[in-house]
Amino acid sequence: MGPPSLAPPPPANSLAVANGRALVEVGPPSLAPPPPANSLAVANGRAERALFGGVYGALAVALAAMTTENPSNPPKRARVPSPYLHAARLPEGESVDPRTVIQGKILEIEIGPGRGSFLYERANVSPDIAILGLEVRKKWAQIVDERLAKMGLHGRARSLAEDAKEALPRLKPDGIFARAYLHFPDPWWKKKHTKRLVMGDLFMKEIHRLLADDGELFIQTDVEDRAELYERQVNDSELFFTKGDQAGSARIAENPFQARTPREHRAIKDGLPVHRFLWGKKLSATG
Ligand SMILES: C[S@@+](CC[C@H](N)C(=O)[O-])C[C@H]1O[C@@H](n2cnc3c(N)ncnc32)[C@H](O)[C@@H]1O
Repeated sequence: MGPPSLAPPPPANSLAVANGRALVEVGPPSLAPPPPANSLAVANGRAERALFGGVYGALAVALAAMTTENPSNPPKRARVPSPYLHAARLPEGESVDPRTVIQGKILEIEIGPGRGSFLYERANVSPDIAILGLEVRKKWAQIVDERLAKMGLHGRARSLAEDAKEALPRLKPDGIFARAYLHFPDPWWKKKHTKRLVMGDLFMKEIHRLLADDGELFIQTDVEDRAELYERQVNDSELFFTKGDQAGSARIAENPFQARTPREHRAIKDGLPVHRFLWGKKLSATG
């Protein structure tokens, strides 16, 4: 808020009642002596009561002081640096071996772990499992990664601040992961947000490349339309074969991985149906 203007005042800072409506006209605070208060003017057959001074004057001066700054040039607020700027990331380089980050007999990858419960719970299923989470939101990547460290799981479970669409193509060698998880992804519904979607051709191609020959892709969502879309997309890609409960279908009633995501815990608590799909890597596919 700047100091009150000393410029000559326009005929403002008045509160008038005209045509039954209250008008607050606001301008720079006036230092000139006010016109006679409570004067009644009659113009064009309408009564206008212009009130100056007293309560109204003080109100108008206060409002004026708040609004005299140029709205197109608002005062700059000092930027507080984000505490999550230094969230852990993948090592630099065109190609990154996930084993430089996590070590274990069975390597898995989760895209968008969010608040991370699947990472904690999955790493606790077996000391053989090592799982890499790629989370685009720095804040949650860092909070979860720190929690994993405190839990003594860092060697086998990490949550790194990465956009999966940029990070997946950098991961090498091919065939390194036993399983890939995509849980409740893409909470964007508008067409203009299509570019943000993780699920798509690039994701399927990269996951197919990164999965071992007997590797699996598990997807779940509580949004029915999205479930149908994912099912169609993966089946149509011809990169994966269905491994669901029924022959020819990827649909699977339960999550067989003894670990649940935050959203999954919530959906179960709220009694929402969860749509789950399991596919295996197709070897003959040319991805
Ligand atoms: C709806 S939340 C679900 C979180 C978690 N998977 C769960 O089931 O509770 C989707 C998550 O995916 C993350 N995400 C979205 N786009 C991403 C991307 N390109 N790379 C990595 N993470 C992404 C979001 O930041 C968010 O944490």
